[in-house]
Amino acid sequence: MGRRGLIIAIFVCLFAFSLCRELKVKVMHKDHQQDHHLAKYNHTLARILVQYASAVYMSDLMELFTWTCSRCDGATEGFEVIELIVDVKRCLQGYVGVATDLNAIVIAFRGTQERSIQNWVEDLFWKQLDIDYPGVDGAMVHHGFYSAYHNTSLRPGVLNAVQQAKELYGDIKIIVTGHSMGGAMAAFCGLDLRLSIGEKNVQVMTFGQPRIGNAAFASYYSKLVPNTIRVTNRHDMVPHLPPYYYYFPQKTYHHFPRESRRSVMVLGKTQLVAGKSVRGNSISDHLAYYGVQMGCDSSSSSCKIVMDPRLGAYGRTDLDGNLILSRNPSTSILKLNRDQGEQAVDTH
Ligand SMILES: *[C@@H]1O[C@H](CO)[C@@H](O)[C@H](O)[C@H]1NC(C)=O
Ligand SMILES: *[C@@H]1O[C@H](CO)[C@@H](O)[C@H](O)[C@H]1NC(C)=O
Repeated sequence: MGRRGLIIAIFVCLFAFSLCRELKVKVMHKDHQQDHHLAKYNHTLARILVQYASAVYMSDLMELFTWTCSRCDGATEGFEVIELIVDVKRCLQGYVGVATDLNAIVIAFRGTQERSIQNWVEDLFWKQLDIDYPGVDGAMVHHGFYSAYHNTSLRPGVLNAVQQAKELYGDIKIIVTGHSMGGAMAAFCGLDLRLSIGEKNVQVMTFGQPRIGNAAFASYYSKLVPNTIRVTNRHDMVPHLPPYYYYFPQKTYHHFPRESRRSVMVLGKTQLVAGKSVRGNSISDHLAYYGVQMGCDSSSSSCKIVMDPRLGAYGRTDLDGNLILSRNPSTSILKLNRDQGEQAVDTH
């Protein structure tokens, strides 16, 4: 075993130990969960939102923008994207649109596509709480997740589109979703909507979201965005990362409380796991939620963005080469002739 292997082994042991501790914490949150102002898990809604969180991974921007991608059907049919924001350099992507059947603005963020998911998950073991969440005493968060939303073109794009949508549709509900790192960004976005534009009607539902901050952050977050559900699937390991360390309670990551665990299938038998110890050790459970494929549509591990030249009519590019495609939500669905050439951009 190499040195790195040994270190990983030590961390895995600490991590395993840490799980028991976290279960205790969850039990303590039980009273909280009965508070009626906290979110109730809605299975129908979850099965719809998981499709929005899956579609945002699609690399063909034209299909995504016009909501004609292969994942843009089923429960999300008829969705109208108002703004599609692509941070080309960091390979981040998110959209804002209006779902008339939900009577809501839906915002979704894509998870990581930079490198292989295995490498990304392995790196999560080492993530530090390395930045103060501004304006909150003692609240610390993970810089990478924080800045993916706060320090990129995603945030201004989202806020702008939300403002546009609200002018047209009035004060409808805002639902923010995302899978994996996209879930982390969704949480930061939900909190930001509350803080920076005073939005009260915000609902956040994430899938396979990693931990993003310490206890002070988690408690602040759940006060401001109580209508938040984190869905975790079977043995998905990502929600257990970065690890909770029993020995460093102040310096360790916490989840905000409301978690909904999907059932574990054991030999074809459904076993509910709420309240039981679930060891998160699976990456494949991270990549499918409710039977819906999460992650990117191509097998390539590099960041792939497929641009259609005709998108130029809706796009603007900022100084860093990032792309923001937007349209006035009051216009009807774009009618774009889809048989013209496409141009693939591989940024890695
Ligand atoms: C659950 O969500 C669906 C879809 O938004 C909605 O139609 C339904 O009324 C919700 N159920 C409850 C109990 O809130
Ligand atoms: C934001 O990004 C810029 C340039 O990418 C960087 O110089 C700066 O340190 C970042 N700030 C934070 C708080 O991450």
